[in-house]
Amino acid sequence: MWWQLVAATALLSAARAVDRNNFKTCQQSSFCRRCRAVQEGRSPYKLLLDTLQADANSVHAHVVNTENSVLFTFQLYALTDDTFRFKINELSPLRPRYTVSQHVLDREPRLARLEVTERTPDYVVVTAGPNKVQLFGAPFRLDFYSHGTLVVSANARGLMRFEHLRSKPQQKEGEEGAADAAAPSQDAADTDPGAWEENFKSFHDTKEFGPEAVALDFSFVGAHRAYGIPEHADSFALKSTKNTDPYRLYNLDVFEYELHNPMALYGSIPFLVGHGEGHTAGVLWLNAAETWVDIANTVDQNVVSSIVSFVSGAASSPQVDAHFMSESGIVDVFVMLGPAPHDVFRQYTAVAGTTPLPQYFSIGYHQCRWNYNDQDDVRQVHGKFDEHDIPVDAIWLDIEHTDNKKYFTWDKVKFPDPTDMVHNLTAKGRKLVLIVDPHIKRDSNYFLHNDAESNGFYVKTKDGKDFEGWCWPGSSSYLDMFNPAVRQYYASRYRLDNFHGTTNDVHIWNDMNEPSVFSGPEVTMNKDCVHHGGWEHRDVHNVNGFMLNMASYEGLLERSNGKLRPFLLTRAFFVGSHRYTSVWTGDNMAEWGHLKITIPMCLSLSIAGFSFCGADVGGFFKNPDPELFVRWYQAGAFQPFFRTHSHIDTKRREPWLFDENTMSLIREAIRKRYSYLPYLYTLFYELETSGRPVMLPLWAEFPAETPTFDMDDQYLLGRSLLVHPVTDAGASTVSVYLPGADTLWYAVDSHQKYVGGGTVQIPVTMSSVPVFQRGGSILAKRERVRRAAILTLDDPFTLVVAVDRNNSASGTLYIDDGESFEYRKGKHLYLSFVFDGKKLTSRSLDAGQLPSRTWLERVVVLGWSSGAASALVESRSVGRVTVETTYDQASQTLTVRKPGVSMAEEWTVSLQ
Ligand code: NOJ
Repeated sequence: MWWQLVAATALLSAARAVDRNNFKTCQQSSFCRRCRAVQEGRSPYKLLLDTLQADANSVHAHVVNTENSVLFTFQLYALTDDTFRFKINELSPLRPRYTVSQHVLDREPRLARLEVTERTPDYVVVTAGPNKVQLFGAPFRLDFYSHGTLVVSANARGLMRFEHLRSKPQQKEGEEGAADAAAPSQDAADTDPGAWEENFKSFHDTKEFGPEAVALDFSFVGAHRAYGIPEHADSFALKSTKNTDPYRLYNLDVFEYELHNPMALYGSIPFLVGHGEGHTAGVLWLNAAETWVDIANTVDQNVVSSIVSFVSGAASSPQVDAHFMSESGIVDVFVMLGPAPHDVFRQYTAVAGTTPLPQYFSIGYHQCRWNYNDQDDVRQVHGKFDEHDIPVDAIWLDIEHTDNKKYFTWDKVKFPDPTDMVHNLTAKGRKLVLIVDPHIKRDSNYFLHNDAESNGFYVKTKDGKDFEGWCWPGSSSYLDMFNPAVRQYYASRYRLDNFHGTTNDVHIWNDMNEPSVFSGPEVTMNKDCVHHGGWEHRDVHNVNGFMLNMASYEGLLERSNGKLRPFLLTRAFFVGSHRYTSVWTGDNMAEWGHLKITIPMCLSLSIAGFSFCGADVGGFFKNPDPELFVRWYQAGAFQPFFRTHSHIDTKRREPWLFDENTMSLIREAIRKRYSYLPYLYTLFYELETSGRPVMLPLWAEFPAETPTFDMDDQYLLGRSLLVHPVTDAGASTVSVYLPGADTLWYAVDSHQKYVGGGTVQIPVTMSSVPVFQRGGSILAKRERVRRAAILTLDDPFTLVVAVDRNNSASGTLYIDDGESFEYRKGKHLYLSFVFDGKKLTSRSLDAGQLPSRTWLERVVVLGWSSGAASALVESRSVGRVTVETTYDQASQTLTVRKPGVSMAEEWTVSLQ
């Protein structure tokens, strides 16, 4: 088959750059062309204010397109926590339009009360608590106010477009452009040659339902920058797309993706955050079809200031304008009014859900490669980690472990006894992670294919046949995860009695779930394929991977009877995927630019609810030199998901295959990661309970500091650590911006103190990882080195107290069994530490209890300027005892040795 050839050539290709010809530009996409051509300031849509009715939580009205008199329903809801939602749909569509909220929302959003507080012939004002929306009739426009300040405006530029479903005009089959022959209309939906069928390369898209795009513009008033809409290999602050294509959201398997461009990648979250010195707001455009987003920043010189005047009339006010354009579906928008960054993050997770606390092992270090060849290889690899005293929590097996890419099976020659292999790992406290891809080999000797075929479980072509595409196994079909019966069937595949060789210590990696179809248009499924419920693939494409993850998660949950927390990794994602899985940034390269881009890529995901993010350490393609490899480990050690991975054609790169010095630097980086696991785990607990991202942009904590708005090379890990990894070859210094003129920062290795509010030059050697603890914070570490994370659960803690200008500090620590859901029933400890300049106090923050043997081994106070001191420890178990301290004058560090108190009790340590 020709595509076998294409796929093989692509994989072996020596030219290291994306083949842009494989992917559409906006101009090559009929709906993007149509939507982008809409002229500003000429909106034909009118909100019929006289049809407006209100109830306790919502208002309803009709919208009309004055050019063709088509009517739409408009609904506006007030939600709790300073959020509004509005929906626009056709009043009488020819067929129902797809609404993705049915599949991805955690639960029905909580409604809040609203009331109509003003009605005039031109506008209506709807008020909910301190917020209001001004609804303008003609042209239709919505202005959202937070506490009296206009922060977001919808359709201010008049770019709304809602293409109603229409009957297909007579046309000759297979001929692009025939649609306009009979149509007198000037509407691009009738005249664009791709409106009713579209060709791309050799692919033909039969568009049974014709043009059905939806588009709307949003202005973030007062915003300097917009962030979010992952996934793109681009800067964190979104760039103006005036002279480029819009940012594209269409889950795609992009071979050798390029940096710094708006092309689509593996996942899509149409959530945008607008941020300025005074305010932060968010817009979630809940649509699962292919979407393009234009961005205009008024602070970029090349943007005409007239755009601003549509909203604020004040050309000097900064503003970011966004224009969402989707191929089908409805308009379903959530506007989160902030006002602070953390408010927006919380408001987003109130709608999309938060990430359940991951298992403790999964925040450790993961060793992956395409492929570990056989059982002996696996045994040797984890044995070598022990030999070299390097912790590792999981070994991963890629597609070659299967019998000819038939997932849920084993290559019996290479892996004759997988159960034994798993036991060897778990005996050392480690796990196995297996890849399970979504394409199913069409092989009559494969149970999964036979089951799927006979039960009608596959996605269908437009003609009702099983869709066939080419992927790793050759000819493949794809389970239709939109069918609940398929999800249930699929989930049951993970049962231990169904998945031979697995145990509860085997976890899962869902790759290729965009879905990747080597033989398909843009390496994915044809848009005219049909899913359960009659939805075209066009409608649901971006949520496809989510549905697979949801089924896998259910399966892993069920196999332990709901007791253990599933661990999953995905490549494709959508709004809400973070409730089921972690994510990585796909097939990157062993290049410095790819190391750098991991920070903005994971930050974009984090603020869109997806904190459990990482990138292939070392780069997937090509071979990293020792310097790049070390720097990547050092950076990865401070990112939420920490896994090395490499392409099958690269050289083996386990740490001991490098020179002694390189290996010891890698060991040091991994060990450093393990020392911070208690802190990281606490951040994940707080992510679940509060929605606060684990990785944060500096502006989340220092919202008015404009130098942080464009930063791609540093971030906060939680509120207490500032991380600026070395990402340049041959670096001897790094420039670190330390925010907060009143804030103190302490280098975590030297304990040197810095005052924030500017940039400092930090000299670095190959072992340096510039990380700073924030003055005023207390964080917990574990310093003992063990083979794997779960083996440290009873180990004692070190508390690092970094004082602020008032000599005080506070922090939290979360502890539990590291694997079960018992924590939700109160089997955990959630502790608060407060230091008032003299006394450090530990108290429980809730009623949680854990029969824990952990204890306090050390307290290190940074910025202690009062010289040597004695320490009096008081608790029920130790009584009142004075313990030894040491003081280092040069770094102003006081260390209290062995307070010895149990972490499960209340205690104090007083310094005199
Ligand atoms: C593509 C994934 O992105 C990569 O990580 C994996 O190794 C290959 N598929 C083979 O499964």
